[in-house]
Amino acid sequence: MKTSNVAQACPLNKPNLYESPVLRNATGAAIRPGGLSVLKAALERFPFKRGARLLDVGCGMGASVALLRSRYDLRAIGMDLSRVLLSEGAKSVASLPLAQARAEALPVADGSLEGVICECVLSLVADSKQVLSEFHRALMPGGRFIMSDIYRRNPSDNKHALPCKNCFSGASDRERILGNLIDAGFSLHLWEDHSHLLRELAAKLIFMHGSMSAFWEQFAGESNGRQMEEAVRAMRPGYCLVVAEKT
Ligand SMILES: C[S@@+](CC[C@H](N)C(=O)[O-])C[C@H]1O[C@@H](n2cnc3c(N)ncnc32)[C@H](O)[C@@H]1O
Repeated sequence: MKTSNVAQACPLNKPNLYESPVLRNATGAAIRPGGLSVLKAALERFPFKRGARLLDVGCGMGASVALLRSRYDLRAIGMDLSRVLLSEGAKSVASLPLAQARAEALPVADGSLEGVICECVLSLVADSKQVLSEFHRALMPGGRFIMSDIYRRNPSDNKHALPCKNCFSGASDRERILGNLIDAGFSLHLWEDHSHLLRELAAKLIFMHGSMSAFWEQFAGESNGRQMEEAVRAMRPGYCLVVAEKT
């Protein structure tokens, strides 16, 4: 039986969605809708000064860390729970500074970072409010938080339970995401919708697997693929970019 150190999708004998090459065949090394494009758009509008210290939390294989270092000359490092993804990342770029750590307890000093990046991760953690206050602790005053994630555009749907834990099951709606940020001590610079990138990824997955339920079956089990597809459709998922500042 395959086991994983990441909070496991069900059932346990199926591969972990984010560690599996099946999803990465569609996304590439940046395991999210749009690849690196949303982060690049954010950095062009909200640039960091050269050499700024950034932490990419839930960095996966470190695709963003590599970009931040090589293209923007930032002192970026990445942390993730998954040993599998960290070692895949180290194989592709040997010198990437990646380490295993939980978003809930970052091994960095208070106020030590100019930026925190968090892409498609907040929807996976058990307590996003606690994680946001951890990011706030790690950032210096005026430090910037850049996140992108799945969000619910139909928050009132509660008829369709998602059978497995993933970015969709943990997704919040816009109001809640922004409310949690403000409560954690951030001020908002930008909320932007990039849902077309999620639609493009879904289209790619349908071309590759025949249908979304066929894709989901590989992770959720044969009997749950259809339920996943219907539940995801009912929540009307979108994809957002958020930029905020520690006040
Ligand atoms: C959808 S993938 C995104 C990976 C990366 N940010 C990217 O865009 O390529 C979600 C990542 O979050 C990580 N993750 C989930 N829960 C975490 C936690 N509590 N602390 C740290 N990383 C976590 C997973 O291991 C996985 O690499």
